Amino acid sequence: MNETAYRRSCNSILIESDRTVVSTYKKISCTELIDNVMLLIVMQISEKFPGVFLVDGKLATANLTPGKRFFDEALLKEGGKEYRLWDPNRSKAGAAIVKGIKLFPIMKDSKILYTGIAHGFTATFLSDIIGENGMIYGVEFSDRCFTDLLPVCEKRKNIAPILADARLPDQYSWIEKVDAVYQDIAQPDATEIAIRNCRKFLKKGGYLLLTIKARSVDVTKNPRKIVEEEIEKLKTDFVVDDWKMLDPFERDHAMVIAQMK
Ligand SMILES: C[S@@+](CC[C@H](N)C(=O)[O-])C[C@H]1O[C@@H](n2cnc3c(N)ncnc32)[C@H](O)[C@@H]1O
Repeated sequence: MNETAYRRSCNSILIESDRTVVSTYKKISCTELIDNVMLLIVMQISEKFPGVFLVDGKLATANLTPGKRFFDEALLKEGGKEYRLWDPNRSKAGAAIVKGIKLFPIMKDSKILYTGIAHGFTATFLSDIIGENGMIYGVEFSDRCFTDLLPVCEKRKNIAPILADARLPDQYSWIEKVDAVYQDIAQPDATEIAIRNCRKFLKKGGYLLLTIKARSVDVTKNPRKIVEEEIEKLKTDFVVDDWKMLDPFERDHAMVIAQMK
């Protein structure tokens, strides 16, 4: 441990990281001192995007429902917060952040339409980020996934499950206008479905977070080329801010972030 990270006087300690104050001056006992030093050694926490953390280099969100886990994710406690580790191998949003996407436009209080929510793995992390005043309208057409999603929504009041086909947004026309549309459906016409939903529900200046599975569009073409062609389709309605291929987390998939004009 170096001098800048750890300064000690007779009865006080200041522990700092580059970006986050982990603990401020306070009087502590010898035992607490050892515990704090241990924490400093084992946990470095920084905020990558609002509500998205790196805990010892691993992606995490602050658990909105402390003590409750949903998919056997690890829970870590520090500084009065409980963090849920977000596995980028199981979530394209997580993979895009780890791959260095420049913008992640999901934040506290966001209202989100999520098409292809499945059993809710990624949605629980978005739910942590938006907090109790945000809302996710989660559309899923598979009965099996929807049944798995329901117990998650019982514990997370900011996720509303909707059994419907995302190709037919009139089926859920009762939802409010949203700040973001997150779409993760592996369909050949996924981009057109996203555009249709955005035209109906996304606020002007709101963001589309679109996953593209190149192999669902065309198995014969180069995946990167397909992604570039899908991005072209967005340009009438959107300004494309950034996109990333998600290999090695999700082979031949991409995540695109685009802002509605
Ligand atoms: C890759 S999984 C989504 C995983 C989820 N986004 C996550 O990260 O936790 C794709 C889901 O989209 C659903 N899906 C595909 N086409 C759909 C459609 N037209 N309407 C609604 N859901 C659809 C599938 O049933 C499947 O559950």
